[in-house]
Amino acid sequence: MNRQQVILDKYKLEDLELKNRVIMAPMTRSRADNPENAPTDLHAAYYRQRSSAGLIISEGSQISKRAVGYINTPGIYSKAQVEGWKKVTKAVHEEGGKIFIQLWHVGRMSHPDFHGGELPLAPSAINPEAKSFTPQGFKDTVEPKEMTVEEIKQTVQDFKNAAKNAWEAGFDGVEIHASNGYLLHQFFNTTSNDRTDEYGGSKENRARILFEVLDAVKEVVPENRIGVRMNPSLHGTFGMTLDEETIPTFDYIIERLNHYNLSYLHLSEPFTDVSEIPYAEPNIAKRYRPVYKGTLMINGGFDREKGNKVIEEGFADLVAYGKLFISNPDLPERFAQDATLADWDQDTFYTPGEKGYTDYPLLEEVEK
Ligand SMILES: Cc1cc2nc3c(=O)[nH]c(=O)nc-3n(C[C@H](O)[C@H](O)[C@H](O)COP(=O)(O)O)c2cc1C
Repeated sequence: MNRQQVILDKYKLEDLELKNRVIMAPMTRSRADNPENAPTDLHAAYYRQRSSAGLIISEGSQISKRAVGYINTPGIYSKAQVEGWKKVTKAVHEEGGKIFIQLWHVGRMSHPDFHGGELPLAPSAINPEAKSFTPQGFKDTVEPKEMTVEEIKQTVQDFKNAAKNAWEAGFDGVEIHASNGYLLHQFFNTTSNDRTDEYGGSKENRARILFEVLDAVKEVVPENRIGVRMNPSLHGTFGMTLDEETIPTFDYIIERLNHYNLSYLHLSEPFTDVSEIPYAEPNIAKRYRPVYKGTLMINGGFDREKGNKVIEEGFADLVAYGKLFISNPDLPERFAQDATLADWDQDTFYTPGEKGYTDYPLLEEVEK
């Protein structure tokens, strides 16, 4: 017998009872390769296989046509997409699982090829100097169009509409994607936002859109079923760079989130080594656990041991696992048995079809 693991303990997430604290992190898998970008039976099978997670957070799902930046990612703005997601939520619920959808707008991490030749929308006309995965393969990103205030207000409404659709599709909640260099994150950092109106300048202004989104979304989804995801120390990837204002901005945002009764705050530890980067915070859970009063979910490079440790030490309540959940559909069971973990195949992260998606075996199938 293995010793008791805290990561396998139940958790009361507001009014939801999670069967363990092993959360499936949101992961784009690019299998919505149909004209509607709607989830299919294959998505339902994939998420069903992973429904022993305490909570699944779906892949990022674009809130509007303008929000897209990668091929074959699913949306949550059309009727066909809502119908597709219903298959997914039904499958997960049939297995006794819980699932939130991640609501996504990529902002400048896109390409005119997705928008009939028009420029991607962003807080400011600053090229992230990154790559966009278009129907014709990887292309360089371009200088985006600075959003008008009207376009910002429309985007807030798009988040609200997407949340309403998600609720109709049977999701247990929504996660606002304010992470990883996408639209909302682009507003937070001065290196991607040089606006001079009420959405730029001070940290209050740069954070404004997130709170407008939360205020709009909570009109259609209960506040305690809304999560927020952020990656404060992201540097050198997805076009983001840190400066001296970055971490104080996140300090402000996270403190202010205490005024909401959210489901959870989902933070990532730095994706790269930031020990040499001035102004970076290398220990995200340690810094923000004392600041945030609600449920804290942590992510980034965790395994069984580290996941148990971060909870035992009181730095997080829940741990989100990404790549390990791709290759180990029954990850909680493998943790319970301290079983060998399967490696993931990076080449099939974003390719169409079952390969590298629904063909990773369960532990019991491996042991046969
Ligand atoms: C294939 C793949 C797709 C991802 N897609 C998303 C996404 O849609 N939304 C998001 O917030 N993070 C996304 N991520 C980041 C993961 O949620 C997670 O933060 C990252 O994999 C680090 O966690 P890990 O070390 O447990 O894998 C993705 C990661 C991978 C590997």
